[in-house]
Amino acid sequence: MADPVRVGILISGRGSNMASLVDASMAADSPYRVVRVLSNVEDAGGLAIATAAGVPIWARSHKGLKRAEFDALIDAELRAADVELVALAGYMRLLSPEFIAGWEGRILNIHPSLLPLYKGLDTHARAIAAGDAEAGCSVHVVTPELDDGPVIAQARVAIRPGDTPGSLADRVLVEEHKLYATALADYARRLR
Ligand code: GAR
Repeated sequence: MADPVRVGILISGRGSNMASLVDASMAADSPYRVVRVLSNVEDAGGLAIATAAGVPIWARSHKGLKRAEFDALIDAELRAADVELVALAGYMRLLSPEFIAGWEGRILNIHPSLLPLYKGLDTHARAIAAGDAEAGCSVHVVTPELDDGPVIAQARVAIRPGDTPGSLADRVLVEEHKLYATALADYARRLR
């Protein structure tokens, strides 16, 4: 079997998607291995989860730095760790065009909507307000436009009468965890 693809995960918060990716990577036949978790939020909850799972972390606030300057620090850390594929998992910051160009076709993101619907924030509230019958999540390749790159996987979740953005988010998140692990593994296999 080929060596597992070396993955770096970027987070900004609780890191539940990151945790599910790390969990899935523990399988003996996983085509990827998580070698770094990086965050722009120094006390992001997910950092403790990564450390407990034995994954080295890097965290630094972006405050006071220009976007391209901060992204150059992330880039240096990823390259020092020989990362081959970057997974955004609740990374709530736009990446600079320079960073994205340097990792063309090698950054994936999970977004909590059925793209191309509801790019940006408050996806579940917008789906409910629009009277949609279903919501969901998408994994896509990152390109310079926000939430815009080619979609490689999607999961659908029915919107129920009385759903709030919170109740819907809870059910979509369950699907995110499954979808992202499968999509990242499929994508990693194709890189080898
Ligand atoms: C997830 O629902 C993810 O899809 C979303 O943030 C949440 C992070 O949760 N991402 C975005 O909205 C990106 N635009 P997590 O930290 O528990 O994985």
